[in-house]
Amino acid sequence: MCGIMGYIGAKETQKVLTKGLGKLEYRGYDSIGIALHDGTALQYNKTEGRLQDLEEKLEQEPLTGSVGIGHTRWATHGKPSDENSHPHMDAKKEFAVVHNGIIENYLEIKRDLEEAGYTFVSETDTEVISHLFSRLYDGDMVSTIQKVVDRLEGAYALGVVSQHDPDNLYAVREASPLIIGAGDGEALISSDIPALLEHTRDIYILEDGEMAILSEENVKLLETNTGKEVSRDLFTVDWDMEQAEKNGFDHFMLKEIFEQPTALQKTMTGRLDENAKRVDFDELNWTDVQISQWNKITIVACGTAYHAGLIGKHVIEEMTRIPVDVEVASEFRYRRPIVDENTLVIVVSQSGETADTLAALRQSQHLGANVLAITNVVGSSIAREADEVILTMAGPEIAVASTKAYTTQVLSFYLLGIYLAQSKKSVSQEYREKLIDTLSHIPEQIEEILDHSKGIRYYSESIKDAKSVFFIGRGLDYAVSLEGSLKLKEISYIHSEAYAAGELKHGTLALIEEGTPMVSLITQDEVSEKMLANIKEVKARGAKVLGIAEEGNLDIWEYVDETCFIPQTLSLVTPLLNVIPLQLIAYYTSLALGNDVDKPRNLAKSVTVE
Ligand code: M6R
Repeated sequence: MCGIMGYIGAKETQKVLTKGLGKLEYRGYDSIGIALHDGTALQYNKTEGRLQDLEEKLEQEPLTGSVGIGHTRWATHGKPSDENSHPHMDAKKEFAVVHNGIIENYLEIKRDLEEAGYTFVSETDTEVISHLFSRLYDGDMVSTIQKVVDRLEGAYALGVVSQHDPDNLYAVREASPLIIGAGDGEALISSDIPALLEHTRDIYILEDGEMAILSEENVKLLETNTGKEVSRDLFTVDWDMEQAEKNGFDHFMLKEIFEQPTALQKTMTGRLDENAKRVDFDELNWTDVQISQWNKITIVACGTAYHAGLIGKHVIEEMTRIPVDVEVASEFRYRRPIVDENTLVIVVSQSGETADTLAALRQSQHLGANVLAITNVVGSSIAREADEVILTMAGPEIAVASTKAYTTQVLSFYLLGIYLAQSKKSVSQEYREKLIDTLSHIPEQIEEILDHSKGIRYYSESIKDAKSVFFIGRGLDYAVSLEGSLKLKEISYIHSEAYAAGELKHGTLALIEEGTPMVSLITQDEVSEKMLANIKEVKARGAKVLGIAEEGNLDIWEYVDETCFIPQTLSLVTPLLNVIPLQLIAYYTSLALGNDVDKPRNLAKSVTVE
């Protein structure tokens, strides 16, 4: 998804912008550009391709100045090309604009502008904004921004530099994230925190319907419509840059896989009380009466977060006997979901900015539901708009393929299940205690899996040329299979499907041929006999089976070709362990294929458009 960076101050602006854009690369992009005001005029340089391509161009034609904006583009309107890259300028080169989001009525605006004689050089929706600035400029940037914004429908975060006012940098936000860094004698705008950390930890989060005026001396936030000044507390970032860097690992994804024991420990700390054998969420404001009134829980999310929700369903139903639905946000928002004041809606999102999930949150609130967000990003739109928030303590997740965010989301569901069960007294104290004890050992058990992951690397290399890879399981193992399959296809580009093992006979078996790799999860005690029968079926058709089972389950030797053992735990908790080999399979397969593991093709980390 697009990334915005802007700077005003005494440092070398070109360098600040390109370095900042480098920190936003994880969001996925296909073109990149910057514009600076050099004291006399606006100058820009932009290109299809990566940061290195831009840097090569800038070596030939460097840009100077003390104010500038930059952008990484992820094409939506018009193919990746130099012309379609941001910043976009008006014909007189008086305004440079970078934009994240989509202008829904851009065609209508474009027609008006063309009739008035404006000529377009790109296919983007953004270019209408720079021409609108030119057309509507009235000598005052704030009132011009108001007039421009009045014409725009859709989602946008904007960074604007004007020839008429080069001592200020302007930012506007409507339904697309934008943050502001307030430094000493400098100020910055960005789509995400890592790009600012080298300069400041003091951040303002711009809200929808607000604009900001940044100068070297200060930052002013205004309501866009009225121009009224807004007072906002600074938010101080308490994690450091090292956490967002690779720390000696070859890829962010591998680093993040290995960070899971710590991330899970942090997510439990202060919530899971091993001595008192209970779970406390100081941040939740529900009463027992309120909890007792929910007759249904609906979990809404996208991608990996949706898969975490599938585990959440099992866990919450087991712990509370409240029926739980799980739905993909892009489906939920376009139907008439049955949600009311007796429903708890749980939205799950690592970034807290996923457009469909945010829309589902708003729709649920509109229908009267209480909305809990499970998210990783403090100050994100979802964290701010939800009624209640559980923060996963995964720290920054940079790789597009989500790993530690998933396991911390899943862990949050276990903690939530126990918390609700305490309130409803729906399971015995003994069972809750056992679960709490089991969860407290998970970080060290994940360490164990990671310490013995060599075999997984060999296995991954052996499947790198496969046409298709299948994942099967039953119950919770099926839910984890879906995540394993998504992870593999996302970064290895190998076709993959996950199936509930009992469904194979209803169609999928036809796809199994000699040598088809089949990853089988066999960690659910109640259905392990059934799984072994399914494995026999696929083996009989030539599949090459990797069995993932708990240590001590030696029976599987005679059924599978290869094994991967995870430490023993309660059946309900196995997802936190058996997903680890699946993440590693995806990582090592992608590596063996020479793919860009952290930035897979066509994908973005944060999907802020629908
Ligand atoms: O930020 P979110 O958790 O809302 O993102 C949802 C999905 O886009 C995300 O989980 C995606 O599926 C991952 N890249 C998968 O690894």
